[in-house]
Amino acid sequence: MKGIILAGGKATRLRPLTKITSKQLLPVYDKPMIYYPLETLLNAGIKDILIIIAPDYAGHFLNLLGSGRHFGARFNYEIQEEPRGLADAFIVGENFIGKDSVAMILGDNILDHDFSDAINSFKSGALGFVKEVPNASAFGVVEFDKNNKVISIEEKPEKPKSNFASVGMYVYDNRVIEIAKNLKPSSRGEIEITDLNNVYLKKGELKVGIIEGMWEDAGSFDSLLRASQIMQAKAKEMTD
Ligand code: TTP
Repeated sequence: MKGIILAGGKATRLRPLTKITSKQLLPVYDKPMIYYPLETLLNAGIKDILIIIAPDYAGHFLNLLGSGRHFGARFNYEIQEEPRGLADAFIVGENFIGKDSVAMILGDNILDHDFSDAINSFKSGALGFVKEVPNASAFGVVEFDKNNKVISIEEKPEKPKSNFASVGMYVYDNRVIEIAKNLKPSSRGEIEITDLNNVYLKKGELKVGIIEGMWEDAGSFDSLLRASQIMQAKAKEMTD
């Protein structure tokens, strides 16, 4: 299993904080944001990791993270020239993925969940994760039937069919590369991970796990601040 951290994008919601640096380099309590998704992959046993970054700040990521040796891992880097959407990770990452399966995590997602079992038992298809939230319409929303089978996934629906929001961690078999290449851009001009997941859903090959621990998508001022406060409280708990 290989890993990808998608850490490009425009980060318009965090301007002016992101006018001269990347969102994923901003501090979340005592660490640069990207350390959190990185640790999530490392803790799940994934050591071969591609970091996808925007052209402007590529050197900063290299200076910060290097070869991965300090983390007991191997890091590769690719530049995404334009933010073409989350599903573009599998096109930019094609050579890196090779013939393997891949776990992809968003560079601004901070999760307190151990994905090792899910990663170790993954065989084929697609695997997503959801968390119950009060404001699901801001995310990809997954609807389940009473046997916990996925019925639908909708991207930022006005009227969400459930409170289960898709978190920014996904696992796919190798077919993801070809599926991503065949996606058409949405009305906002991006190739959407929800469309990709819907291809697997139609084949009956999408599974979704529910996570219980904390999850912040640290892309807005409020969630960025909340993420820092949560991490500060956790650090205090450890020292008390
Ligand atoms: P978003 O938060 O959806 O987009 P953004 O980071 O550009 O921010 P904003 O909405 O404020 O303009 O992206 C989620 C994660 O995916 C984040 O880590 C950036 C990354 N990303 C890419 O690397 N490439 C892309 O094409 C997109 C859309 C996002």
